[in-house]
Amino acid sequence: MATRSTIMDTNSFRPDMAQGLDRTTRRLTEERGVLGPAYRLFYRRPVHLVKGRGSHVWDADGVEYLDVYNNVASVGHCHPRVVDAIAAQASALNTHTRYLHENILHYAQDILSTMPRELDRVMFQCTGSEANDLAVRVARTYTGGEGVIVTHEAYHGNSALTSGLSPALGTAQTLGLSMRMIPAPDTYRVGAQDGGPSPDSSGRWSAESFGAWMADGIRRAVADMERHGIAFAAFLADSIFSSDGVYPDPAGYLQPVIDTVHELGGVWIADEVQPGFTRTGDAFWGFQRQGIVPDIVTSGKPMANGLPTSLMAARHEVLEPFAGSIPYFNTFGGNPVCMAAAQAVLDVMRDEDTMGNSRRVGAVFKDALLALQSGHPCIGDVRGAGLYIGCEIVTPGTRLPDQSTALDILETLRMNHVLTSVCGRYGNVLKLRPPLVFSDDDVDLFINAMTTTLETLGV
Ligand SMILES: Cc1ncc(COP(=O)(O)O)c(C=O)c1O
Repeated sequence: MATRSTIMDTNSFRPDMAQGLDRTTRRLTEERGVLGPAYRLFYRRPVHLVKGRGSHVWDADGVEYLDVYNNVASVGHCHPRVVDAIAAQASALNTHTRYLHENILHYAQDILSTMPRELDRVMFQCTGSEANDLAVRVARTYTGGEGVIVTHEAYHGNSALTSGLSPALGTAQTLGLSMRMIPAPDTYRVGAQDGGPSPDSSGRWSAESFGAWMADGIRRAVADMERHGIAFAAFLADSIFSSDGVYPDPAGYLQPVIDTVHELGGVWIADEVQPGFTRTGDAFWGFQRQGIVPDIVTSGKPMANGLPTSLMAARHEVLEPFAGSIPYFNTFGGNPVCMAAAQAVLDVMRDEDTMGNSRRVGAVFKDALLALQSGHPCIGDVRGAGLYIGCEIVTPGTRLPDQSTALDILETLRMNHVLTSVCGRYGNVLKLRPPLVFSDDDVDLFINAMTTTLETLGV
């Protein structure tokens, strides 16, 4: 069945592409049959990676690739301080949260110190899906409601609950009966949507008009829930709207949206799996760019440089009705080894100033892409914050998404040893989200490869 999942199916290998692959690659792709067909492998010619350092990875033939995609290795692949911390704790002890241990306490205090003081409780899990799953349960218990609002192309996880809140999984995924979707804040073409806000005289949306338009979407969604007898519980959103297509601006527009969520009795769950941990360069957390304190925060991917670690932080009054009555145990979440890895990541982020690097190199990266735009009209828009950039590929002279060219660019970049992927409702936005140690030299490498790619394709 065609599922039309942009995040899963757009840049993915299919068995009918196996012809022409070298023997080992072909054998490995065939052996993956044992895994079950739900897994997706990137690229028409899959990549077999065996080693990583910083923002570079190597395949089994020793070929080096520039990694412009992987946000899990947030402080760089195989950072020695993280590797050492994991090895030291793994050789001492690894248990779970039903015994006393300092690691979880030190890390809990340290990570909460990066958040506004209202967010004063934290619980640990292994994946972003589990963190969001727990966050929705907490929100529902606190509000007494059930309905959750997400954006049209949102992805929030793979559990029974969160997959039902993830329209990005495609049309074969059953969505929750009590969930409602609102349009993503698509700053590039939102004016074309029904009742969209008008840009000002300089062609830009103000934070006020944009926020009011989105807040109206929330009102309509809640009104629809109420007509069906469903009480509103939460707005679950990632403040950079990554799977929707990367929309960080205009900063500040979420304030009226969240005010409306609160007025209507809901809470905001800030899914920080993508924009958190200094990625945007402006602040440690993505929501801080918007100047709002969420009710609940979730994170995962960038926390422990690849060890399965995630969190849900909340205001104590929001957490209390759930946590005060329902026990929580997560066998692996918060274990001493994962906490040691997470602590090392946080220490490296401070010592190596990944936030400053995201801000500085991200700006250089964005400017270099904007400079490419004039000679290559297929680049319709370049937007982002820090080291999270979306590069929109369109039919020249229009704002029509061109997914086919985006995929050709992606595959040609891969042949030029640069790894990235696509996102967005139309699967045409290059998702540029490298490890946070991405350097000026890495930007040059990318721009050279991108220039060659665009010239090869004649676009
Ligand atoms: C915004 C967002 N939320 C949640 C998740 C789920 O995280 P995990 O794959 O760790 O369960 C993802 C994963 O891509 C994500 O991008």
